[in-house]
Amino acid sequence: MSARGVDTSTNLGGIALRNPVLAASGTFGYGSEFAPFIDLREIGGFVAKSLTLEPRFGNPPPRIAEVASGMLNAISLENVGVRAFVEEKLPLIPEGVTVIASAFGTEMGEYAEVARRLSESPRVAGLEINASCPHVKSGGIEFGQSPEVLAELVRSVREATKLPLLVKLSPNVTSIADMARVCEAEGADGVSLINAVQAMDVDIETRRPLLKNVLGGFSGPAIRPIALRMVWQVSQAVSIPICGIGGILDAEDAVKFLLCGASAVQVGTANYLNPKATVEVAAGIAAYAERCGLARVSELIGALELPGS
Ligand SMILES: Cc1cc2nc3c(=O)[nH]c(=O)nc-3n(C[C@H](O)[C@H](O)[C@H](O)COP(=O)(O)O)c2cc1C
Repeated sequence: MSARGVDTSTNLGGIALRNPVLAASGTFGYGSEFAPFIDLREIGGFVAKSLTLEPRFGNPPPRIAEVASGMLNAISLENVGVRAFVEEKLPLIPEGVTVIASAFGTEMGEYAEVARRLSESPRVAGLEINASCPHVKSGGIEFGQSPEVLAELVRSVREATKLPLLVKLSPNVTSIADMARVCEAEGADGVSLINAVQAMDVDIETRRPLLKNVLGGFSGPAIRPIALRMVWQVSQAVSIPICGIGGILDAEDAVKFLLCGASAVQVGTANYLNPKATVEVAAGIAAYAERCGLARVSELIGALELPGS
């Protein structure tokens, strides 16, 4: 419930959220880093940085670069590992804050094992699997780029956990709707989209790519129309809930995702510009619902008026 009396609650595949705004994986640390700036209880929750079985260092720098209307990153696998997350990071999060953990790996079995370990913690409300990771055995293509590989991945993680399971989809595919159908068929409780768009940029003085890794993920406001298009297409293809992600800076951006069919949203790159972005987006959505005379924010989900309707 917002201060204005609007019911802001939503449900994301079995994860009850006090409002539809989550912080996106990789842009919010392990949550406690943002406690000096915001009351974590004022947002729907957060998705922690993706975790592997063992701690990993990421790519060497430069691994982030600012570009027009967004940023490139090639941070890659850097994380503290599942054990340190459960033992050292989760206890820092106040009770009542919804934590969604993100799992990834370079092998099918690693995802399932990370999911199993995370499922043992009562503080984890749900799992998101990051399918945008290169799959070693498939020659380095992302898990989320092949329907067959994605199906096997979702099946193996589904068997490993009873927690609500969200699959985070890669936008670097021909048909994201087909990928979402695969997730639904394999028992996912929801899909999150989009991850960063594969991209690169160049410094013409040095004639070098901006990132040492050459390729990186493009995020920020420039990708928002792509993300909206994909959320809309997926909403027409599946009946499991969608978490909309991509270039959300303010409440207006977030409302667009809800109208296109998202049950909740994630705020990513905006956290770097404004560490209060998530709480401001949450308050702004409630204010918009109030201005529209709605009793519940959830009435906005999929409420897009199509031309001719
Ligand atoms: C620096 C950085 C690190 C990221 N790390 C992860 C990650 O570990 N796992 C993941 O699923 N997504 C990761 N992402 C992708 C974001 O969660 C999000 O899907 C993407 O940035 C698009 O949203 P945005 O435009 O609001 O940033 C990362 C993004 C950035 C910018």
